[in-house]
Amino acid sequence: MSITYDYIDDYLYRIAPPRDTLLERMEEYAETNSVPIIGPLVGRLLYNLAKISQSRKVLEIGTAIGYSGIWLARAVAPLKGSLTTIDMNPERVKIAKKNIAEAGLDRAVKVIEGSALDILPTLKESYDMIFLDSDKDVYPDAFKVSLPLLRRGGLFVADNALWGGDVAKGGKSKDTQAMIKFNRLVTESPGMSTVILPLRDGVLVSLKE
Ligand SMILES: C[S@@+](CC[C@H](N)C(=O)[O-])C[C@H]1O[C@@H](n2cnc3c(N)ncnc32)[C@H](O)[C@@H]1O
Repeated sequence: MSITYDYIDDYLYRIAPPRDTLLERMEEYAETNSVPIIGPLVGRLLYNLAKISQSRKVLEIGTAIGYSGIWLARAVAPLKGSLTTIDMNPERVKIAKKNIAEAGLDRAVKVIEGSALDILPTLKESYDMIFLDSDKDVYPDAFKVSLPLLRRGGLFVADNALWGGDVAKGGKSKDTQAMIKFNRLVTESPGMSTVILPLRDGVLVSLKE
């Protein structure tokens, strides 16, 4: 379900700048194979957020086929930055690595295969930006475990914060309840300055002050 009017969404997609053939091919692949990717509007938002914040080290939870990762890596690569991205689906990790190599970004991107809640506690580095886009039931725990990895002044960003609008209606499904809990957890976290942008399925952007 869309959270905005269809004619507004159509307009936003219509005026979005064209992507290169790799990203457009990935968008088509995702559509055909039902891979839920962020798409070009949120992709551009991530790219701009990473650039504005001059992020060098970015962590992503939920790689899928590498679409959002390529937007992020393209933002940090000119600063000799890097993206670390985690996914537990071996088939998708393989496709992501192929796409990332085709984008010429394999030296800037490290793909880790495994469950986020197992991997995150093993990470030792500090990140300028964290992007969360995994299964929704792990969002609250993924936030708790990854927040210490975010430097002060860094950005915590999460996709699907409005979950088709169900969070605002108090929906009872497991995923909706997880998203309601997650949104409260982040907005009530001391030192976090948080806003949810009603773009596509809702993008939470939170600054660690
Ligand atoms: C919505 S897709 C990510 C889309 C990607 N961010 C993009 O826009 O291009 C979610 C991905 O997270 C992975 N995932 C879900 N739960 C996970 C978990 N607990 N640990 C690691 N990966 C997970 C899934 O395998 C899936 O590929």
